[in-house]
Amino acid sequence: MDRWQNPDWVKQMALRLDFSRMMADVIGPEHGITRAEINELISRAGVVAADIAKRRQTNELGFYRLPYDVLTAGNLVQIATALREKCGAFIVLGIGGSALGGIALFRSLCHPLHNLLTREKRGGGPRIFFLDNIDPLTCRALLDNIDPAKTIFNVVTKSGTTTETISQFLICRRMLTAKLGKKAAKDHIIVTTENQPNPLRRIAEKEGYVILDIPENVGGRFSVFSPAGLFPAAVAGINIEELLAGAWYMEQRCRTGDIWQNPAYMAGVLHYLADTSKGLNIAVMMPYSDALYQVAIWFRQLWAESLGKAADISGNPVHYGQTPIAALGTTDQHSQLQLYMEGPYNKMITFLLVENHGAGLAIGQETGNDYRYLAGHDLGEILNIEGRSTQLALTAAGRSNMSIILPEVNPFTIGQLLFLLEVQTVFTGGLYNINPMDQPGVQASKDYIYGMLGRKGFEPKAEDAAAWQQRKNPYVIS
Ligand code: PA5
Repeated sequence: MDRWQNPDWVKQMALRLDFSRMMADVIGPEHGITRAEINELISRAGVVAADIAKRRQTNELGFYRLPYDVLTAGNLVQIATALREKCGAFIVLGIGGSALGGIALFRSLCHPLHNLLTREKRGGGPRIFFLDNIDPLTCRALLDNIDPAKTIFNVVTKSGTTTETISQFLICRRMLTAKLGKKAAKDHIIVTTENQPNPLRRIAEKEGYVILDIPENVGGRFSVFSPAGLFPAAVAGINIEELLAGAWYMEQRCRTGDIWQNPAYMAGVLHYLADTSKGLNIAVMMPYSDALYQVAIWFRQLWAESLGKAADISGNPVHYGQTPIAALGTTDQHSQLQLYMEGPYNKMITFLLVENHGAGLAIGQETGNDYRYLAGHDLGEILNIEGRSTQLALTAAGRSNMSIILPEVNPFTIGQLLFLLEVQTVFTGGLYNINPMDQPGVQASKDYIYGMLGRKGFEPKAEDAAAWQQRKNPYVIS
């Protein structure tokens, strides 16, 4: 029996949302939220919840189904297992939603120095890299330092057209072909894309690459539990069945329409009220765990791209929306915290706290008199004390903050956390009456890229760009 099939273990590993320090009776009436304000949203929340339920029925919100797709997970594990032994480096080429989920899983669930460990200490698997930018220095540095014969490139792009990813793909394919020959090169590329005839899929089919499907109804930033995130995780040796079990468990917890029982809906309500009635239009996510920092970066994109919209579903302008910030405890206590504590009161902070960090690192008893207060403590304990001290200081200053508490970091708790944040985002989109699933702003920039690079069909964008280039600009200091 797997541990996630044991109800006692599952109960111990359940995530908790502590939002007391968002409430008026704790931090005061000016910025604190009252029970009455939450209850006033119950009927609106009910409408949003019913709409989500309807869209789940019609399978429009495909990410809800991913925790149940154990068949795909099984296939991915099989492919990954065969590949882990023979490859020395596994490189993901992707950007945005096609990279951030995989990075979050890798950083939270693998050894912090995975790529520096021996193969044995890596569990027999390869080194894992994510190229989610096209800075030529970084790309060249990586490509110059791998053995193509022992490298697999996983090209992850749902649309199959994103310039950054496709440029990297073309470079890597050329390198593989030059070094290994066309026939062998095909075994070094795995494409993860939509099951639609996009240009990359056509090439992949023609060349005979392994292809993994991203379901049509799963958007990039909601694709962490699809092959986009799961396959790199499986290659890294992460237990993706347990990860999905965690997501499934949270999916069950987030089914209730009772916002006082539903952690994702309550978090959404609090964010919404904080923004629209308390002026807190910045949402900081601050994990007290290095492993969770990339989760905060993943969430930053999920929140920003889903909720940053100019118009609501009825076409009315949207005047609200929170800017997400990723911070790290304790590091940013010595960087950002002064601002959070005493700067403009326009932020709410969500801490990600881990109760048990596993590896303790004891300071010991030999501290000398000046440091006697540190004797007998260990770093995990001090990290958590610092998290609590930051919460206390913020609360004493009347500043809104809440916590998502993980009993420990493992695939089950990470599955819960990421799924909770996905549901929270979709639900909050409903409260704002906006569509959280599209990203017209991202597309606008992609269209200019195509125009400037000379892609057919984007000529007006190219002309627009050229006109800007020729425009006299009096606002440059040189
Ligand atoms: O969340 C999104 O939809 C975006 O961030 C996309 O993931 C990103 O633009 C990359 O797109 P694609 O997967 O099509 O390459």
